[in-house]
Amino acid sequence: MTTMTRQTQQESTATESLTGTLKDSQDNQDSQGSQGSQGSQGSQGAVQPAISVRNLWKVFGPNAENVPGTPELAALSPRELMDQESCVAAVRDLSFDVAPGEVFVIMGLSGSGKSTLVRCLTRLIEPTNGEIFLQGEDVLAANEKALRDLRRRKISMVFQHFGLLPHRQVIDNVAYGLEIRGDSKAERTRRAREVIDLVGLSGNEHSYPDQLSGGMQQRVGLARALAGKPEVLLFDEPFSALDPLIRLDMQNEIIRLHKELGKTMVFITHDLSEALKLGDRILIMRDGEMVQIGTGPELIGAPADNYVRDFVKEIPFSGVLTLRWIMRPAKPGEVLDGPELGPDVVVHEAVRLVLESDHSVKIVENGVLLGVVGNHEILRVVAG
Ligand SMILES: Nc1ncnc2c1ncn2[C@@H]1O[C@H](COP(=O)(O)OP(=O)(O)OP(=O)(O)O)[C@@H](O)[C@H]1O
Ligand SMILES: [Mg+2]
Repeated sequence: MTTMTRQTQQESTATESLTGTLKDSQDNQDSQGSQGSQGSQGSQGAVQPAISVRNLWKVFGPNAENVPGTPELAALSPRELMDQESCVAAVRDLSFDVAPGEVFVIMGLSGSGKSTLVRCLTRLIEPTNGEIFLQGEDVLAANEKALRDLRRRKISMVFQHFGLLPHRQVIDNVAYGLEIRGDSKAERTRRAREVIDLVGLSGNEHSYPDQLSGGMQQRVGLARALAGKPEVLLFDEPFSALDPLIRLDMQNEIIRLHKELGKTMVFITHDLSEALKLGDRILIMRDGEMVQIGTGPELIGAPADNYVRDFVKEIPFSGVLTLRWIMRPAKPGEVLDGPELGPDVVVHEAVRLVLESDHSVKIVENGVLLGVVGNHEILRVVAG
């Protein structure tokens, strides 16, 4: 591939991520724009979710729009849908909320629909059916201007392959989105320097991407995403091209930035330990469908099926599972004078206390005895 072609391609990727394919959006809006007009925030309780997804479908193929509304088609297996209709349902009737400030992880095997789902959130891929609300705002009803605004100011995306412009220095890569949305040169230079500093790249402002390591390039990608002060950050396997040590470094960076900035994040990964480290909750997908949604301990403590069990089996459970998931009811007449622990203490941290205690440890929350954990419960987890 020539430098010129690569340059043009990368530029269009970056532009697409920032501005979206507006023509597609407009075309689709005519047929879909009114679907979500009732709103869904009324049923959400006191805190409005950062993102609400309701019955979302994305079907690729001829007459894709017929699939969600036709029960016989919607019920077809992926294989049948392909054989009979030449369609792929990359996202199948998904509904979930992401809370403000939450780190929400999406996992699933290759082809399970993760990237399609995340791209639907800003209509980089136009959903076939369903509703999406961003802070209560109906994304599918957004007109071209509102959609542009959403992509430039509210949601940013960080990609696996960085999507940097090779002929631009770091500072101009970081400022790219601000330039597109029309910020003054002085303002975008000031802001770019600020976020370059935030991601630990001060001193590299005038380097070109190919002069930086993979980890540093992804920091530039991160700085670019943060530059426009978005409320939501979307990450599509941002660290999978990095070697393991740099990857750990970047995970810690995300945790630090999340603590500092408190942004809502949606994070796709293949790596369960990454998901457990970063995520408040994890959504597990298979063939476009939701298999399970929950915290790490919930997935490990009560996997919905063998698919989830397969995902979690590589993880040393004692480092993730909490006492809530292994406690048992106290037996009649059992001596309850052992020490107390909370239900959210991780097994690993409780091993010593439980094994050294003469009687079972009491699991107590708000003064209420929920259950007990003894040597047997602990050893079952530790011994795998
Ligand atoms: N433009 C498209 N046209 C037709 N089918 C598509 C298109 N984009 C994605 N698909 C199909 O949709 C399904 C989901 O793809 P998607 O890229 O969302 O998966 P993924 O979970 O992100 O996979 P990976 O982990 O490999 O990135 C796959 O079967 C894929 O082949
Ligand atoms: Mg993907």
